[in-house]
Amino acid sequence: MKQISKYAVLALVAGGMAAGVMSFAEFGASEADAAVSNPGKLQPVSAFAKIKNKNERAVALFNEAGKVIASPRCMNCHPATDRPTQTDSMRPHIPLVVRGEGGMGAAGGLACTTCHHEANFDAANVPGNPKWALAPAEMAWQGKSLGQICAQIKDKERNGGKDMAALVHHMAEDELVGWGWKPGGNRTPAPGTQKQFGELIKAWADAGAACPKG
Ligand code: HEC
Ligand code: HEC
Repeated sequence: MKQISKYAVLALVAGGMAAGVMSFAEFGASEADAAVSNPGKLQPVSAFAKIKNKNERAVALFNEAGKVIASPRCMNCHPATDRPTQTDSMRPHIPLVVRGEGGMGAAGGLACTTCHHEANFDAANVPGNPKWALAPAEMAWQGKSLGQICAQIKDKERNGGKDMAALVHHMAEDELVGWGWKPGGNRTPAPGTQKQFGELIKAWADAGAACPKG
């Protein structure tokens, strides 16, 4: 079984690469449109170089990075309430668990680590990571616009005291953020790669970190 699924994955990857090369060669300029219709990909930073206005470029870069931020892999842990959400459909977490002290679950209730361990456990469909915990209430993203999330993650009062360098580092390097690209089970990974996402966020910061309106 293991072998077969490994080959199937390889075939998929190879097929995807061939398709990517073909569409690039055949359609060239319309590659950007293809990226829009394929939420699984991120456009590279170089695709934004043609936007000369710094603020407009920053906003466009953040909108692209926003494809990751809006993904269920991030949103499920940055909920509007004390309760995480689950799966690609972002339904309320079953069983009922709440944030509790440090996002680790309520005292006397179910601690996250009762079920979520250091790594994904696909046999039981439970995701895992050494840092598994619910994001603090001031870092809630669900129900907010990308512009509101942008303003919030730049705000040291609400982002855990991170300056811009620390924020870029968190997005590009943090292992819990990185889980979003290897979520296990049948979960859809966040689009692109963490490296590409980190590059978009860094380019956004370098261009002055303007936020989308609204
Ligand atoms: C398992 C839960 C979990 C997942 C999944 C998760 N986060 Fe978080 N996130 C947290 C926790 C806990 C914190 C606070 C601790 C910290 O700053 O390291 C946090 C903080 C952050 C911060 C700090 C600033 C702020 O205002 O939110 C950013 C940025 C962030 N996460 C981005 C992401 C991105 C991007 C993804 C998806 C690729 C993601 N997170 C997925 C739990 C999660
Ligand atoms: C009783 C076991 C259990 C406990 C306790 C538990 N979880 Fe979960 N959690 C699960 C299972 C199982 C799934 C996968 C459900 C699925 O995908 O159908 C899950 C999924 C999730 C997801 C969704 C991942 C995704 O992107 O689809 C998040 C976020 C999450 N849990 C956060 C937490 C947090 C935070 C805590 C502690 C406050 C916690 N869980 C406590 C069992 C548990």
